[in-house]
Amino acid sequence: MCGIVGILSTRPVAADLVDALRRLEYRGYDSAGIATVEGGHLERRRAEGKLRNLESRLLSEPLEGNVGIGHTRWATHGKPTERNAHPHMTARVSVVHNGIIENFRELREELTAAGHTFETDTDTESVVHLITDEMDKGRSPVDAVKAALSRLKGAFALAIIFAGEDNLMMAARLGSPLVIGHGDGEMYLGSDAIAIAPFTDTVTYLDEGDYAVLHRDRLEVFDKDGRPAVRTPVKSQANALLIDKGNHRHFMAKEIHEQPEVISHTLAHYVDMAQGVIRMPEMGIDLAKIPRITIAACGTAFYAGLVAKYWIERYARVPVEIDIASELRYREAPLPEGGLAVFVSQSGETADTLATLRYCRENGQHIASVVNVRTSTIARESDVVLPTLAGPEIGVASTKAFTCQLTALACLAIAIGRARGAIDETRERELVRELVEVPRQIANQLLDETQFETLAHLLTKTRDVLFLGRGVSFPLAMEGALKLKEISYLHAEGYAAGELKHGPIALIDENVPVIVVAPRDSLFDKTVSNVQEVAARGGQIMLITDAPSEEAGCPLAAHIAMPLAHEFTNPIVYAIPIQLIAYHTAVLMGTDVDQPRNLAKSVTVE
Ligand code: M6R
Repeated sequence: MCGIVGILSTRPVAADLVDALRRLEYRGYDSAGIATVEGGHLERRRAEGKLRNLESRLLSEPLEGNVGIGHTRWATHGKPTERNAHPHMTARVSVVHNGIIENFRELREELTAAGHTFETDTDTESVVHLITDEMDKGRSPVDAVKAALSRLKGAFALAIIFAGEDNLMMAARLGSPLVIGHGDGEMYLGSDAIAIAPFTDTVTYLDEGDYAVLHRDRLEVFDKDGRPAVRTPVKSQANALLIDKGNHRHFMAKEIHEQPEVISHTLAHYVDMAQGVIRMPEMGIDLAKIPRITIAACGTAFYAGLVAKYWIERYARVPVEIDIASELRYREAPLPEGGLAVFVSQSGETADTLATLRYCRENGQHIASVVNVRTSTIARESDVVLPTLAGPEIGVASTKAFTCQLTALACLAIAIGRARGAIDETRERELVRELVEVPRQIANQLLDETQFETLAHLLTKTRDVLFLGRGVSFPLAMEGALKLKEISYLHAEGYAAGELKHGPIALIDENVPVIVVAPRDSLFDKTVSNVQEVAARGGQIMLITDAPSEEAGCPLAAHIAMPLAHEFTNPIVYAIPIQLIAYHTAVLMGTDVDQPRNLAKSVTVE
């Protein structure tokens, strides 16, 4: 992860570097730093913690250089201290890096033996010394970087500046995203186009393995074999995505409240509203003939994929294999000939998901991705992209991206069902009608959050929380637990309601709240039996349901009353209460809701 930026200009760049880093803080916020070329020398300022600490440092110790690079860090190698903060540098070279250099130990040993002194615990510092070493042997900066790149193993996006060079910056990418921005006599680079959006809307995306030489007035790109490469600049839409919190206290609250609108946008992409039927983009594969579907994703996106498994198997009658992306490819799972592999990702840059996508491609799968960032690497490496129209999601806890992923996947399930004859036209129209109702049902839930605030007060007094759900509500139970733990730091686990008696029930006592996702669907009675097992052991039950509280058959610590929805669309509608429970609990606990500790929005390391 980490975010990197660079600017080549004829005016001091420090303020704009910090401004660009602010839009990359979603990628990590353990520390931040910038370096510029000042009177031929390299100078840097770094600070532990959030970007505002770096800003304070720059107020007292400004940087005046016209060429600079910046970094916001999510620590992988070495503690999140100032010493380990980027940029890393020698007297000749300064580097910012996103990714992991896998062979850094070997390089470090070799360079230490050659007389280099390392100051940090990071993998990145080996890159700085490697380039310096090549320059010390007499190579030019460009040739030194080229030689160094050939030695690096792992994933990286790099930006590099050099002492004595105030019209040169170099960049390289392999496995981590990087975009170059073209200004008027200026050049920019960033981990994404939003970082540099206020400065330019003309951008060039580097391909895998590319490296680039930037001067103020020109860009030269070379491919992985060092051959000059043509990468055509495109117009970026990122400027339209610059956003603020509106009148909400946190981005997460704003994003929760945007859901009726963004789900509508997503639906409009997949539904022919006039006909009341699904209109999928050309999939490039005959959906009627797919032998099996493989789904892989991470975190919340994985839970969206798990809901899709229930939908696709039940409504389209196709077997679905699903695994978390960091596991699937290492299992060396056999994949069927002619199979469809679906990857779900908000950012489209998640390293585990991307690596598994490539594994599936190597194994002959047709690749579809459900992504929010259409310019992302996962989108670009897919045969077909099923976009979610959630807009930029800034809060680290995924909310609107999740419900938009569910919306797109629900449409996919119907489309597959139709193609295979498992769903007839009448059924398709019925399911589409129910989907179209979802934004209104969610908007109604968002009118009054009092019941969630009340429930959150109860949760702040506990240390452990269990979430239960059965059938398609099981993934929601796990998503509820993930949401709560990531932003409130309370320990939470999600279980299949029927699994409780096989072990976790031993945890139940009067101090353990059990939040049950229990729409009144075909499994409701079975879930109620599990609720009673909890009640019999003194557990505090908090029921999220459209059924009256008496139907629980036992006293409830809380009853979250849900609108009546359809069994098919329940997972989308029931996502809202679990988001609001986590949000209000975190607010009461006083945590950093949008940037919880140890996390980053986009996880670009394996
Ligand atoms: O960008 P992605 O959807 O691929 O990200 C996957 C996970 O890292 C992400 O969903 C994570 O679990 C969220 N922080 C959960 O709220």
